[in-house]
Amino acid sequence: MLEQSGGGALGTKLRCSIPCLRLHVLSLDQSTASPLNYSATQLPRMNWNRKHLLDIESLTAEEILTVLDTARAFKAVGERAIKKVPALRGKTVVNLFVEPSTRTRISFELAEQRLSADIINFTAEASSFKKGETLKDTARNLEALNADFIIMRHSASGAPHFLARVLAASVINAGDGAHEHPTQALLDAFTIRERKGKIEGLNVTILGDILYSRVARSNIWALTKLGAKVTLCGPSTLVPGVFEKMGCRVTYNVEEAIREPDIINLLRIQHERQRKTMFPSISEYAGLFGLNRARMEQTKPDALIMHPGPINRGVEIESDVADGRRSLILEQVTNGLAVRMAVLFLVNGGKGPQGVAA
Ligand code: CP
Repeated sequence: MLEQSGGGALGTKLRCSIPCLRLHVLSLDQSTASPLNYSATQLPRMNWNRKHLLDIESLTAEEILTVLDTARAFKAVGERAIKKVPALRGKTVVNLFVEPSTRTRISFELAEQRLSADIINFTAEASSFKKGETLKDTARNLEALNADFIIMRHSASGAPHFLARVLAASVINAGDGAHEHPTQALLDAFTIRERKGKIEGLNVTILGDILYSRVARSNIWALTKLGAKVTLCGPSTLVPGVFEKMGCRVTYNVEEAIREPDIINLLRIQHERQRKTMFPSISEYAGLFGLNRARMEQTKPDALIMHPGPINRGVEIESDVADGRRSLILEQVTNGLAVRMAVLFLVNGGKGPQGVAA
């Protein structure tokens, strides 16, 4: 999709084979681009043939990089006066959120608007779910209205995979139980790469409730595939040693876990998924594992702090840290829009408006 052309470093231009993005990418040289300096080897050709985005586990590093590179072009679109492109004109997207969400739902909806799609917002509370209609019947009814894409959040792990098997529409997983949250991991990877200029070789600590976290699982898959070294830390009841099989290091010593990393990604306690008490009290958790000003002083000076949200101030993160200059929390939200535009664009076949018309 993106290719380098032209001479030396500062004169290098990016060429884009996507008509609706070409104008915006053409002007990206190293004087105007983000701190990330692309080299020829970091510009993979478009590597995406998937109809669905269900998880990160099944993606290759090249596919992940294709999403990140496409998102970079969409971020440039979002920085100009007219932020809309016609890539999904005539397509219908259903936002099927059966579990609460603020960031993911709003970000997907804005991404769909920016891509000129028609949008249906499905709210479980106001639907015939309440009358006993099954997920499959609900989804088939939405498809009968010619839905092309279903963006789904559900409390059951595997629910989007099930829909992808029974429907003709493209399915994008917006978080399924404790399993995966692929677009969160992609926006996290995008943010890390934009800020640090690379992912390979970085030390990343994920601190908190790992056991019940879909964000943790998707991040572990994405970061290890892209060559980062991932450390997991939290109470032993919430960070079972079995996670080492995913290629991570596990430690229960928070001081050690925060000393070396380039990135510290904090996770909240997922009370809604815990079936029993996993630690004595919230205040004990905050004291033992919360990231506060004193602990920040033990981190590397250039270590950056991430959190997928929603944050619980005073539990896993103190306000000083959440609102501090090393916090990327709101940047993650901004980048989520570009990443979700990229994902929708790619699962649509990577086609511009001429493809939609065809
Ligand atoms: N990060 C995230 O998934 O937030 P929401 O639950 O608000 O969508």
